[in-house]
Amino acid sequence: MSDRPANADRVSVASPTRSRGLDERLDRGPDQVLEPPIFEKGSSGRCGIDGGPRRDSGKAGAALPPEGLLADGLALDGSPPEGLPADGLALAGSPLEGLSADDLPLDDSLLRDDLETFPELSEPEVLRHYLRLSKLNYSAASNFYPLGSCTMKYNPPANEAAAALPGFSSIHPYAPESTVQGALKLIAGLESCLCELSGLDAVSLQPAAGAQGELAGIKIIRAYHCDRGAARSKILIPESAHGTNPASATLSGYACVVVPCNERGIISASTVKDLLDDEVAALMVTNPSTLGLFEEEIESIADLVHEAGGLLYMDGANMNALMGVAKPGHMGADVLQFNLHKTFSTPHGGGGPGAGPVAVRGDLEKYLPLPRLRHGDDGFFWDYDLPDSIGRVRSFYGNFAILVRAYAYLLACGGDGLCEVTRMAVLAANYLRARLEDSYHLPYPARSMHEVVFSDKLQNSFGVKTLDVAKRLLDYGFHAPTIYFPLVVHGALMIEPTETESLETLDAFADAMIAIAEEARSDGESLLAAPHATPLARLDETRAARSPKLVWRPAG
Ligand SMILES: Cc1ncc(COP(=O)(O)O)c(C=O)c1O
Repeated sequence: MSDRPANADRVSVASPTRSRGLDERLDRGPDQVLEPPIFEKGSSGRCGIDGGPRRDSGKAGAALPPEGLLADGLALDGSPPEGLPADGLALAGSPLEGLSADDLPLDDSLLRDDLETFPELSEPEVLRHYLRLSKLNYSAASNFYPLGSCTMKYNPPANEAAAALPGFSSIHPYAPESTVQGALKLIAGLESCLCELSGLDAVSLQPAAGAQGELAGIKIIRAYHCDRGAARSKILIPESAHGTNPASATLSGYACVVVPCNERGIISASTVKDLLDDEVAALMVTNPSTLGLFEEEIESIADLVHEAGGLLYMDGANMNALMGVAKPGHMGADVLQFNLHKTFSTPHGGGGPGAGPVAVRGDLEKYLPLPRLRHGDDGFFWDYDLPDSIGRVRSFYGNFAILVRAYAYLLACGGDGLCEVTRMAVLAANYLRARLEDSYHLPYPARSMHEVVFSDKLQNSFGVKTLDVAKRLLDYGFHAPTIYFPLVVHGALMIEPTETESLETLDAFADAMIAIAEEARSDGESLLAAPHATPLARLDETRAARSPKLVWRPAG
């Protein structure tokens, strides 16, 4: 670094904060410079390595330090005190006194000779660099995060505090059941809350993600059919399903048959009826769908599937649009997974831990992952004697800390609070839909549930695409919505505002989106080059994927 102050490392690497404290004391006048706590009267003022007085200074009446000499051994002018080596390594009174760096017994094998091109930085420079980088992080805590299908809402820190309580965070999964009855009671309480919300009869909290809950659910469906004589071979999946649905069905050995949506973006009973036969194990439906639409014909569809001997799997990751208002079990669902990390106070995304509890109707309980929590004369215990179970899907009993957060959230909201959450989430999505529908093409005009999906059709005529809109939003200070998903909408912009945003925030986002639509008409070129205000301009994503630079190398 050519533009660093010449003495930056000598002065500041050693003790930048002390230097600042020193400046303050100097401002108060020379008399106070030598006042306690830096110097004890009667001490020499030069400190030992532990900050105490040097060994030979304990005598009463020992001289104060020479003018300008400070507690940390630095002189005011930055020069080393008399008797100390020039590199300042050996503090007076320390076992290193009198030694220089050359005297230190470092083995040659520990020394590097390839540091020539390494940057030389002082401590504050490094600190500022990382602090600046940390400010580039974007999170739901720092700003609006309308990433559709991810429910990036505000998660109250109170629930983090609950999960961090030592009684929860310090227990070991192998602790005897009698010593963790409180934790087991929490698991039982959460199970019954989720049964209530889903309208189903039993739930296992073991799966560690939504997709794992799906996998467990489809394995349960397979076990059910196997018990009845044949596993069957197909699962029907609407084209508006979440992408993990076909993955879970395929991993469980099923062929996926796509159910097309009608002109309103939902699946119709007549289409499902045409696809049903005695090879169909289940219909796996995301409801509300990834189009943010409620499957209005779900009850008659459930009847048709059941008549054909199949089961109805409902992906319940979008419970933010249903909880407290409608129960999937009442719509005919037999199996459902929750995403606790979307709906119930754990952030989604970033590859962090999740929880995807799987809920089933009563006669399917015997297939749930083992062990199952039971209550007997001695309190709660784990039951491993479940011959029909699909087995474990994860070690121990699930991601326990996420269960604690979810339970704390459920209890804090209560039934009325959860209804309110749902209503506000749906209202926010419809508000944005109403504000943006003149500026962006709405492929399916039906009322939205928790999210709304637009397309870039209106912008295409000016040569502007979804990616350009998303990149430009970064300049306006917003995280982009989910783009190009669901696949059923060409150039999709999928916006999920959630219930925790204020009207001001929703308006600010809508204003930015409308301004971008206007720019597309008037200043398309600039839009194509966005973002302009971020540290990095638009990446060549193809090159980034093909030749990633994953390690730093010195220049040249
Ligand atoms: C509707 C839906 N289903 C399933 C999943 C998969 O959940 P996970 O990412 O926890 O595997 C998601 C995730 O966003 C989702 O939105």
